[in-house]
Amino acid sequence: MPSPDRSSSAERYVPAAGRAWLTRVYDPVMALTMRERAFRPALVSAVLSDGRPRVVVDVGCGTGTLITQLAAADRSLRIIGVDGDQQVLARAREKAAAADAATIGDRVEFRKGLADKLPFDDGSVDAVVMSLLLHHLAPDAKLRALREAHRVSRPEGRLIVADWGRPRDPLTRAGFFALQVIDGFANTRDHAAGRLPDLITQAGFSAASVEQRWRTVWGSLELIIAGKDRRRAGSRG
Ligand SMILES: C[S@@+](CC[C@H](N)C(=O)[O-])C[C@H]1O[C@@H](n2cnc3c(N)ncnc32)[C@H](O)[C@@H]1O
Repeated sequence: MPSPDRSSSAERYVPAAGRAWLTRVYDPVMALTMRERAFRPALVSAVLSDGRPRVVVDVGCGTGTLITQLAAADRSLRIIGVDGDQQVLARAREKAAAADAATIGDRVEFRKGLADKLPFDDGSVDAVVMSLLLHHLAPDAKLRALREAHRVSRPEGRLIVADWGRPRDPLTRAGFFALQVIDGFANTRDHAAGRLPDLITQAGFSAASVEQRWRTVWGSLELIIAGKDRRRAGSRG
């Protein structure tokens, strides 16, 4: 079990399931409580909806569930998963190795790295995905991670975020309170207030909009898409 990792900003590091010893139950808990059959395919569609992205980076990729689905959905993609936690990366590599070799091939790679210091050149990535990462980060660390996503994105690149938004009814509010107890209050405050699209815009992206919402056991999960350029690539507007 790794000692709690620290981002370059020395923020408290929250492992995938809130506690390092819970990492091994992360996948089954997600499957049971997170409506994965709805939100994962929606994320895959959002990534692929913009013509033919070539290089996709999943920041805070966790156990790599989305990456194997993306790899299967489009066999021309190069996908790099980045996470700060060696333990989840080991699990992600195991899962990719167990998947059909023809699906994964050498197009999928996992790297240890932090969201505010991504191991990519400026303007080199077509789509940056952040699925359930941002609520782990303190407000200033969120902004640094989003600015870093903006730096590595190509001019026509896009940011695709799935994370918690403002709870919209008493049940999702109660679930989100439980999540805040596990994951922390300071890093989830912007989510509770529905400020994520504003933060994404503040980081330099444009046309950040909530495309879909799902009620889950842990709160209201939102799919947000933004473009690096002023007019979002593939947007309807
Ligand atoms: C809740 S999990 C989400 C995993 C996966 N994206 C998913 O959708 O299931 C959050 C992940 O973000 C990673 N993480 C947290 N802070 C990070 C940081 N500053 N840089 C990179 N990864 C980080 C954690 O290690 C964890 O694997």
